[in-house]
Amino acid sequence: MLENLKEQPADKILMLIQAYREDPRSDKVDLGVGVYKDPTGLTPVMRAVKKAEQKIWASQDTKAYTGLAGDPAFADAMVGLVLAGVVARDRVSAVATPGGTGAIRQALELIRMATPQATVWLSNPTWPNHPSIIRYLGMKMAEYRYFDAATCDVDFAGVLEDLGRVAAGDVVLLHGCCHNPTGANLTAAQMDQVIALLKSRGAIPLVDIAYQGFGDGLEADAQATRAIAQAFPECLIAASCSKNFGIYRERTGILMAISPEAGMTKVTQQNLAFLNRQNYSFPPDHGARIVSTIMGDADLRKEWEEELEYTRNNMLALRAQLADELRRLTNSDRFDFIARHRGMFSRIGASPEQVETMRRDHGIYMVSDSRINIAGLNKDTVPLLAKAIVAAGV
Ligand code: LMR
Repeated sequence: MLENLKEQPADKILMLIQAYREDPRSDKVDLGVGVYKDPTGLTPVMRAVKKAEQKIWASQDTKAYTGLAGDPAFADAMVGLVLAGVVARDRVSAVATPGGTGAIRQALELIRMATPQATVWLSNPTWPNHPSIIRYLGMKMAEYRYFDAATCDVDFAGVLEDLGRVAAGDVVLLHGCCHNPTGANLTAAQMDQVIALLKSRGAIPLVDIAYQGFGDGLEADAQATRAIAQAFPECLIAASCSKNFGIYRERTGILMAISPEAGMTKVTQQNLAFLNRQNYSFPPDHGARIVSTIMGDADLRKEWEEELEYTRNNMLALRAQLADELRRLTNSDRFDFIARHRGMFSRIGASPEQVETMRRDHGIYMVSDSRINIAGLNKDTVPLLAKAIVAAGV
């Protein structure tokens, strides 16, 4: 049996982790996988998370199974955090999932169950795991233009033109905030136009929100998702807690499905629970419990929000420093988009060869499409990156 297996294509983001580890240079810089690092290069456990874990340790008296949908307190906390009451709670079904990826996978499986003929539209580019999972599930897929390589900004005319071809019942995947991999985001006014267009086409939105709190703040980053949830009779939202709670390895995410009316929520919820049962039975609980503990305790929540703000501001400062440095070195404003981008990533517009040159000559690791993880920088490595970008002729 096993001899029938073929080698799988390597994931280009995960491949970088290995290549970086094997590089003996002491001044190497890792701008690959999307993990937050503080100025000392550490991915810290947030203080609020530590305290929540202590609380859980002290009070938890069983590790028996939760429900198939996970702990209801987690669902309530996340529905509150993402949607803030903009749609009636009784229209929202939700299941805990192993990370945001688990939520995306369950969303796609739900779509396949309900409308196997639907095409799923992805921004070009998008997080590589989106097309990979869709292909694996044998679903139909299409792309809409998103990024203008010349300006490193959103190609909004391209977005509108391509989404104008979406058929009724097709699913359109939208990044809730902090677009991965580009860092270029729709303005609120542009999102309103996209919403109006997709409504006129009869499309169903699937929102992937993995970086709430990393762009313009917890509330601002949820605005697009809330506007979508309010505008459409039904939509799916996959949210991740990996980044904003810093609990990557705990695998904590949630899939929400908003039904047109409360009467449909029960069956939707049953189907979500069914999918959990088929794929992994009960979802992981520890990370979810950390989240609901923090969200349910005013002091912990305040501490978490402050820490998240510090993280966000740190990334913004690095963006500003890098844009300044590049303005100085190139005597132009060509890289100012880095300061305008939001979230953990920016696609800087280097060719794969230039990316390779920066790795070879300067020990700087970024994804081959020239996505950099801003949080992988610190104030001492920003000038090194700027120099390498200029030396590589970007
Ligand atoms: C990333 O894009 O780097 C993160 O979402 C981590 C991952 O799993 O790819």
